[in-house]
Amino acid sequence: MSDASQDTSPAQDPLVIFTPSGKRGRVPSGTSVLAAARQLGVDLDSVCGGRGVCSKCQVQPSFGDHSKHGITANADALTEFNAVEERYDRVRGLKTGRRLGCQACVTGDVVLDVPPESQVHKQVVRKAATTRHIEIDPATRLYYVEVAEADMHDPSGDWERTEIALKTQFDLDGIALPFALLAPLQKALLDGKNTATLAVHTARAGATKVVGVWPKFAEPNLYGLAVDLGSTTIAAHLTNLVTGEVKASGGVMNPQIRFGEDLMSRVSYAMMNEGGAADMTVAVRDAMNALAAELTAEAGLAVTDIFETVFVMNPVMHHLLLGLDPIPLGQAPFALATSSAMDLEASDIDLNFAPHAQVYILPLIAGHVGADAAAVALSEAPQTVDPLTLIVDVGTNAEIILGNKTRVLACSSPTGPAFEGAQISSGQRAAPGAIERVEIDPVTKEPRFKVIGCDLWSTDSEFAVQTATTGVSGICGSGIIEAVAEMRMAGLLDAGGLIGSAEQTGTPRCRPTGRTHAYLVFDGSADGGPVIEVTQGDIRAIQLAKSALYAGARLLMDEFGTDTVERVVLAGAFGAHISPKHAMVLGMIPDCPLEDVTSAGNAAGTGAQIALLNVAARREVEALVHVITKVETAIEPRFQEHFVAANAIPHATAPFDGLRAIVPLPEPSFNAGGGDGARGRRGRRRG
Ligand code: FES
Repeated sequence: MSDASQDTSPAQDPLVIFTPSGKRGRVPSGTSVLAAARQLGVDLDSVCGGRGVCSKCQVQPSFGDHSKHGITANADALTEFNAVEERYDRVRGLKTGRRLGCQACVTGDVVLDVPPESQVHKQVVRKAATTRHIEIDPATRLYYVEVAEADMHDPSGDWERTEIALKTQFDLDGIALPFALLAPLQKALLDGKNTATLAVHTARAGATKVVGVWPKFAEPNLYGLAVDLGSTTIAAHLTNLVTGEVKASGGVMNPQIRFGEDLMSRVSYAMMNEGGAADMTVAVRDAMNALAAELTAEAGLAVTDIFETVFVMNPVMHHLLLGLDPIPLGQAPFALATSSAMDLEASDIDLNFAPHAQVYILPLIAGHVGADAAAVALSEAPQTVDPLTLIVDVGTNAEIILGNKTRVLACSSPTGPAFEGAQISSGQRAAPGAIERVEIDPVTKEPRFKVIGCDLWSTDSEFAVQTATTGVSGICGSGIIEAVAEMRMAGLLDAGGLIGSAEQTGTPRCRPTGRTHAYLVFDGSADGGPVIEVTQGDIRAIQLAKSALYAGARLLMDEFGTDTVERVVLAGAFGAHISPKHAMVLGMIPDCPLEDVTSAGNAAGTGAQIALLNVAARREVEALVHVITKVETAIEPRFQEHFVAANAIPHATAPFDGLRAIVPLPEPSFNAGGGDGARGRRGRRRG
């Protein structure tokens, strides 16, 4: 950046000030705005190398008195609209006042605004609670080249002349041309009279190749997919690689569920069945192709418009997508085929996108801590903050990260699918009609609830009307967490996790079911609807899941040498819907001021999106995984100890004083000698 005060240019040279960057400096009269921008380090885009073809270099001059900048810009501070700009305006239309930076030349002091669409490194502001913006600097970029005509006296091939054009016009060299693109290049130069637009992909320094060719100046659809490939669901964002705009987002169930609900059952399936791993590989690749087809159709695009895909996933999903044997991941030492980031052709893994579409796979942290955790770390950047931050990405397998500027630790913990509503008697996935919020009156012990798709509480007179189409169908993950926590606060559930009887609790809603009790939340049987209860089995499933989550977090705290954390971030698609208070009453997370418990939405998906749009972020996460200390829960003896202590609600030994100061936690005991059978039971496989 130049500054007028340090500028050694002749004082009579015009002073150019670019906004919003504020970069300023003197340039010789007659310098094009694009050249001035380059000279002053201003971020002004150009695909055509200044030939007046691409219109990416637009600027908005502002004339008049700029006392803030100490200059007056006269109307003649830029050269007049030239023929190239006139033609562009006629054919494509230029917004009033706009100029093409490669055509307009500076002749006097002037202030030039670079609109967002003309900035190479545009910023995408994330809608969710955000710790960072995404600067758009993708690996795939378009270049319009004018290639020298073939010359009999200086024989060189089409590609060699194109290479020279890329070198001289864009300073790009060492570019590879895949064989399959040689014929299209030949045709493009013929059709385009020696002009062409190339999509060039730079995976990393020294690995640059052409991935698309079009005749003349072209603005092809250049899209990318950011994929969070989870054990239960596959979520993807279809994103414009030039603007960063998300055109479509969607998810599908991971079809591998039919081979096993959790990760370890899929590894077992691979062990027990010849060709089982290959079947799961085919299933997930087919699902990816189907999801890509669905998202592109929704956006009015074609799958061949997808030039790049970024995957984040846990180690088992990683191996199954890539066609690698997942069996070594089932037992110590949990050896990965590779933990490094990977650059592949989409066709290497049977993805039917653009013919030379590229794939980037985020690095894995360890045998049980995957690229999904790496993506969460990329998105949440715990290594950049002072407060000791615990990030839990709640899913079938929880990814847990603890750290601050001094150190970052990570582990994964096998919570199982209970938090997603599976293994719960009235459980269901989050969908309209599912109970997602629950409150229980501590005096009357009467519940009220909300279902997805309706903002009213069930006690509202309009509730039945507004839920007439969906009905009340079941209880989803956030609903069961609230229900169990509310039961604990209302004295219906003791610290050991036992539901009291009607006599013990004073409400007929606590009904006997065999030797245990269940709490009736909703009885729709009179209208043919469901009876929704929280059973003793449900409580046990939630206890197992939350104990695994807490024990993982506690292990990291041990390793860090702390008994407290200063911030908790709940991540994961489901994490966004968890009420911090209820999560803490349940003892899913350690005691921490409630105002410091926040939700980050799908942080792994955001990490994928960041890596899709910004190549520097790929290098960042590749470096980050090397400084994250992995803690392996499966072989750590203290995990079992922490798991057992975490079985109580909220916890057997941790005081949770902060929580007790703000919520009632009555201490009834409903253990009439029957024992609860859950203490000391690990009972959960990884998955
Ligand atoms: S740089 Fe392409 S039109 Fe100006």
